[in-house]
Parts: sequence; structure tokens; C-alpha cells
Amino acid sequence: MTYRVVQWSTGNLGRAAIEGIVAHPELELVGVWVHSESKDGVDAGELAGIDPLGIRASRDIDALLALAPDCILYSPLFPKVAEIEHFLSAGINVVTPLGWFYTKHMNVEGLEKACQQGHSTLHGTGIHPGGMTERIPLMVSSFSQKIGRVRAEEYSDCRTYGAPDVLRDYMMFGKDLDEARKSPMTDLLRDGFYQSIDMIADEMGFRLDPEKKSSHEVFAATAPIETPIGPILPGQLAAQRFAWEGTVDGEVVITAAVNWYMGHSNIDPKWSIGEGGERYELEIAGDPPITAVFHGIHPTSDAVLEEVQNRNPGIVSTANHCVSSIPYVCNADEGIKSYLDLPLIAGRARLDLT
Ligand SMILES: NC(=O)c1ccc[n+]([C@@H]2O[C@H](COP(=O)([O-])OP(=O)(O)OC[C@H]3O[C@@H](n4cnc5c(N)ncnc54)[C@H](OP(=O)(O)O)[C@@H]3O)[C@@H](O)[C@H]2O)c1
Repeated sequence: MTYRVVQWSTGNLGRAAIEGIVAHPELELVGVWVHSESKDGVDAGELAGIDPLGIRASRDIDALLALAPDCILYSPLFPKVAEIEHFLSAGINVVTPLGWFYTKHMNVEGLEKACQQGHSTLHGTGIHPGGMTERIPLMVSSFSQKIGRVRAEEYSDCRTYGAPDVLRDYMMFGKDLDEARKSPMTDLLRDGFYQSIDMIADEMGFRLDPEKKSSHEVFAATAPIETPIGPILPGQLAAQRFAWEGTVDGEVVITAAVNWYMGHSNIDPKWSIGEGGERYELEIAGDPPITAVFHGIHPTSDAVLEEVQNRNPGIVSTANHCVSSIPYVCNADEGIKSYLDLPLIAGRARLDLT
């Protein structure tokens, strides 16, 4: 059985997704939607940096839906809910890293109705949130009992992140600390991480307090730091930690946290990422206590900056997690489905080994 897939947008993630779809033995790429006029008509393989695929990118939504895809991998910068509802009610399954990881405590009436109307499925997935903050901790937690705390934390050197506007305008690197404290990221990321916290709490049985907590610590450069977005000067934002937490009677029991920084030198000495360098780190404080550290989702130290900015392993992993879920989502019952509803999602062997 082969599933027909349309890739919706070709940013960093969309380009990696095209590669992932082509490499997946059960998937066939049948179309690609682009936002930019300059990409209209360009071969999908060329956009993804691989061999030509004979599929021309298009801005024509109706023409893409007429291809009758089984699934759309939806990864533009911001979601348009009406657009997703349109796909779902037309009977097309949707996989996306933009949200809907766990919707039990959200108002998703319109999307659920669209799924029922089109007998289709919506699945939110990704890496952080969408993998490291709920799917993987839940799996690891089964090796432990009497669990008092679950923590999932990202440590990323952002010099290899190939989105200069996002680094400056959303992550606030290089801004004065007072301005950086107003980062929109705390709110932008909150909804996704709160869903991760809810999924863990519901599945593991934590009785969470009604209000969750979020925090943002900022750290300044102490001397100029050279970065791909220009020098960061003393007093400007060079490192930061966001945390979103669920508590029981005020005690923190579930944490999702993000550490973003620009290199390792000339930063306020109060800043520390501990041992282990760039990584995703999980902690299950139970009996026995378990720690899992994931490497490989960040560039290696000898990576060429331009290459990883164009094809960052974290983005490739996020795209692959979306791609890997597609056959399971196409096989699922109608509705919005989280990992708790789907079977174990696995990657696939290299094509010449299948
Ligand atoms: N859950 C997770 O773990 C996770 C991880 C990484 C990323 N994400 C999310 O995935 C999304 C894509 O990330 P990315 O790295 O691929 O971003 P990106 O490289 O900035 O690409 C954004 C895409 O959005 C399109 N776009 C720009 N303006 C648009 C508009 N007004 N209307 C519709 N589309 C527009 C662009 O189209 P053109 O290329 O045609 O101009 C581009 O393809 C982001 O929302 C990001 O937050 C989630």
C-alpha cells in the first residue's frame, strides 16, 4: 500500500520532509504547495536540494487537492485553521508540527467536526514539542514506578539555526535584556508545551494544579560574540532558558524546558548548560531514576555552518517524525489523534535494504 502525500510549504522543515517522503517505502510525493511566487513551478527535488523529482511546486490549492492526496504534511510558518479544516472535511488526513499534539483540554470543535465530515485524521507531531516532551518521556517512564518528576530539556547552540529573522525578532538574540524579557516565545511556545504536560499528566495520573507555570531567564554577553546574525555586544541577549511546568500542590512534577544560546564564551558566568553539550535530556525521577540523553539531533562540532543552516539535523528529525507518522495516521480512525491513540510509530529501513 502506498500513500499519496502533498507537502505543504518548503521552508527548512518542508524541504527535509520532501527528502523524507521520497525515502519512505510506503509514501509517494504527489504534490508540493509553496507560498513564494519565486518557487512556483520549481521542481520539488530542486527545492529540497536533491535530484529532480518531476513534480512542480504549485500555489494552486485546488489543483493540489485535485491530486487526491491521502495526507498533507502541513508545515508553513503559521497555521490557518480554516485551511486545515478544509483539507480534513475533503477527506484528506493532515500531519503537522504546528500544534494539536494533545487536544483533550482544548476547544477543537471545528477541526473535530471536519474530521468526522471527511472521515479523516489530524495528528500533531514534531520534536519539541511533539516528541521529546511527551512521546519519549511516556515511553521511558514505563521502566520506572513511584514517579515524582518528569523533565524534558533542550540545549541548543543557535548559531547553526538558519533563520536569521527568527533569531533576531522572535528569539531576541542581540537585544537588550529588558527588550529580550518581552520575548514572544514564552507565549508562542506555551500552548504546545502545555499540551505535552497535559498528555503526561493524564496518562501517568498526576493531579495537576489548575494553573501551569512558565518562566524565562535571560543572560547577557560579557564581551562581543561573533554570530551568523552579527556581533552580540556586552549587555545584549546571548543565552536564555524557558521553562513550562506542571505542579501538584505547588510542587513541580513535569517540566519542559528550552536552553538556547550563542556559543560558549563571553556569556554571563551565571549561565550554565551543565555537562554534555548540545542535547535533549530526559529525567524520570522515580524508582529507579532514569536519565536519557539524545545526541545526533544537533550538528556535530565539525559540521559546516552553511550546510547545517540549510539542513539542520533537528529540523530533519522533526520532519522525519512527521513523515514516519503518515502511514499510521492514514490507517487511523477519524478524529484528532495523539500518540496515545496511534500505534508505535517507527522509521523505515533504507530503500536498498527493504
Ligand atoms: N514541533 C516542533 O518540534 C517543530 C520543530 C521545528 C519547526 N516547527 C514549526 O514548523 C514550522 C515550519 O518551520 P520551518 O523551519 O520550516 O520554517 P521556515 O523555514 O521559516 O519556513 C516557513 C514556511 O512558511 C511559508 N510562509 C511564509 N510566509 C507565509 C505566509 N504568509 N503564508 C503561508 N506560508 C508562509 C514559507 O513559504 P515559502 O518557502 O514558499 O516562502 C516557508 O516555506 C514553523 O511553524 C515551526 O515553528 C515545529
